[in-house]
Parts: sequence; C-alpha cells; structure tokens
Amino acid sequence: MKFFIDTANLQEIKEAHSLGILDGVTTNPSLMAKEGIKGKDNIFRHYKAICDIVDGDVSAEVLATDFEGIVKEGEELIEIDPKIVVKVPMIKDGIKAIRYFTDKGIKTNCTLVFSAGQALLAAKAGATYVSPFLGRLDDVSTDGLLLIEQIVNIYSNYAYETQVLAASIRHPMHIVRCAEVGADVATCPLAPILALLNHPLTDAGLAKFLADAKKM
Ligand code: G3P
Repeated sequence: MKFFIDTANLQEIKEAHSLGILDGVTTNPSLMAKEGIKGKDNIFRHYKAICDIVDGDVSAEVLATDFEGIVKEGEELIEIDPKIVVKVPMIKDGIKAIRYFTDKGIKTNCTLVFSAGQALLAAKAGATYVSPFLGRLDDVSTDGLLLIEQIVNIYSNYAYETQVLAASIRHPMHIVRCAEVGADVATCPLAPILALLNHPLTDAGLAKFLADAKKM
C-alpha cells in the first residue's frame, strides 16, 4: 500500500519524506487555506514547492465546477510539474472532465466519493485515483471501511486500473484496516502515520535492552 500525506504543510511533507516511506501528497482547498496560501501565483508556487520535496504524485484540486472551467484549470495545473495529478470533484461535469483528461493521458484523482456507485463512475471515466472519504462517513455513523472494501472488490471484479486512494483517514487503525482490505493508497496527516510507530512493549523492551547494555 502506498502512503500519501494529506497536507499542504511543507514541514510535515519534509518530515514524512525524510522517513523514506512517502509515496505522494494529496491537498485540497481547505488544507491550502490552512497554510494561508492566497492568490493563484502563490498557490501555484506552493504546489511547485511540494513537488520539489516528494518523488511521487501530488494531487492539486480544481476549484471550477463546470466542464470548461475544470479543463482549463486542470491544464494550467499540470504545467506546474509532471508530478501534478488533477483532483476533480465527483459531479457530472467532473466525470466528463476526468474522461477528457484520461483521453489526453493526464492523471486525475476523483475526490469527494462517498458511495460505490460514484466510485464505479470514476473508474468508467478512467480516473487514475478514486478518493473515498472514510473518516467523514464514520462521522455520520456509516462504516467508511466497508465502502473501501466494496470499491476494492468492484474494481477487482472488472480489473479497473483506477487506484483506491482511501482518504479522510483519522487514526492508525484506519491505515491498518485499509491495508487489510487492499486499498492501493492511504492518505492522511502525519500524526496517524507516526502513531503506527508506537507500542508500549517496544518502548519497554528498548529501555530494558539499553539498561542491560550498560552491564555488557
Ligand atoms: O483530502 C481529502 C480528505 O483526506 C479530507 O480529510 O479529515 O478533512 O475528512 P478530512
């Protein structure tokens, strides 16, 4: 399973990259706003700065919601860096735009996916990634993990090449469960990734080894 980091914070991206386990980055307008990035030039410069840190795909989201607008924005975004993947919302014009980008060999990430039917449409349109929002489904008492599993099964039935990018991941068990059901990618902030490191028996065992090493 690939690990993407879901942030626009350069420090967090650098830290994840320095661990040697980072396969890419996802961003969204809320994450960009959180970093205080304003204005098209600054936004584009920030995407470039992210691309300069990582080796893998970097999802940059369009703000337009009509076909022509999405296509125009997407074509501008891919000029920033070859690592840019155009992130498109799961709406009718978004699906049309994903088909357009796919036919031109441009990578896409279909975002704001909350049902298997939506994921099926994204795959039919040829999206590179589909982003089901696991945590936001859990927030409304719906099993987000079940959706990830459903999509993985549907894509496997028909050998769709669209990769299941589990998004809105909130804690380490989300990551582990996504790996169990076969998600291709998990994207989350740095904290759940770092939380995977933790186990009290590791800490206790290391403390004992270090104490005993003094007797060697
Ligand atoms: O980038 C999309 C998704 O990962 C957002 O997560 O925590 O805002 O639901 P969250």
